[in-house]
Amino acid sequence: MHNSADIPPHRFSAAPMMDWTDRHCRFFHRLLSAHALLYTEMVTTGAILHGPRDRLLAFDPAEHPVALQLGGSEPDDLATAARIGADAGYDEINLNCGCPSERVQKGAFGACLMREPALVADCVTAMRGAVDIPVTVKCRLGVDDDDEEQRLFQFVEQVSAAGCKTFIVHARKAWLKGLSPKANRDIPPLNYPLVAKLKRERPDLTIILNGGLASVAASSETITDLRLDGAMLGRAAYQNPWDLAEADPIFLSLIHI
Ligand SMILES: Cc1cc2nc3c(=O)[nH]c(=O)nc-3n(C[C@H](O)[C@H](O)[C@H](O)COP(=O)(O)O)c2cc1C
Repeated sequence: MHNSADIPPHRFSAAPMMDWTDRHCRFFHRLLSAHALLYTEMVTTGAILHGPRDRLLAFDPAEHPVALQLGGSEPDDLATAARIGADAGYDEINLNCGCPSERVQKGAFGACLMREPALVADCVTAMRGAVDIPVTVKCRLGVDDDDEEQRLFQFVEQVSAAGCKTFIVHARKAWLKGLSPKANRDIPPLNYPLVAKLKRERPDLTIILNGGLASVAASSETITDLRLDGAMLGRAAYQNPWDLAEADPIFLSLIHI
């Protein structure tokens, strides 16, 4: 028998999704998979510092392992919010560097942070200084007319130098002008080979693939083929939750590869 300590925590996760992955959804997902790492919806630093913090951060102990995703770009605020999240019992703090919505762009966080790796590095340093749990980053390949490889590799280089060891890569760019957040999840083309190349060049990092994975079984095949460390499933996990029941048997069987 395996216990959860055997499983690398990021082998399989359910994505942060605003309005979808609230505590009720996560509890439901936990009934289907004992081991999947579950992410909260993005919570902004402003909401944690000035809003109904207790309600926003409440979760059921059954949800462990559960990661809190933060939205923000101000290192001190992120450090304080991370500390509050760690004190609330979350297992990981994740920084959103992938959301393209206009509201988020106005706050200068989310995907536009792909162009501010030095600032993200400062944010990671501040958060890591405030908590003992892992601080991870969810990002895109780049934004707008960026050269994907240059942008992604430079971003990871700088942010990993600040101590972030785990990157969840939504394997497409975000187009900040002219596309809705919904269209930004489908129209910019996926580039899995680039994520695989990142892992080959940075084998020291934990690199998780996200974007367009249709099922748990497909995720498992894809990360095995590409030699990646894990898969994150978003819409498929929400729209076809029963599929998550495959996660424990499939991903446990990968432990010894
Ligand atoms: C309704 C919805 C809300 C989302 N909210 C967030 C969010 O709060 N934070 C985030 O990093 N990504 C968010 N995303 C993006 C997903 O986490 C994921 O990166 C994206 O859907 C691609 O994965 P998929 O093809 O498996 O769905 C959201 C996606 C959806 C469908």
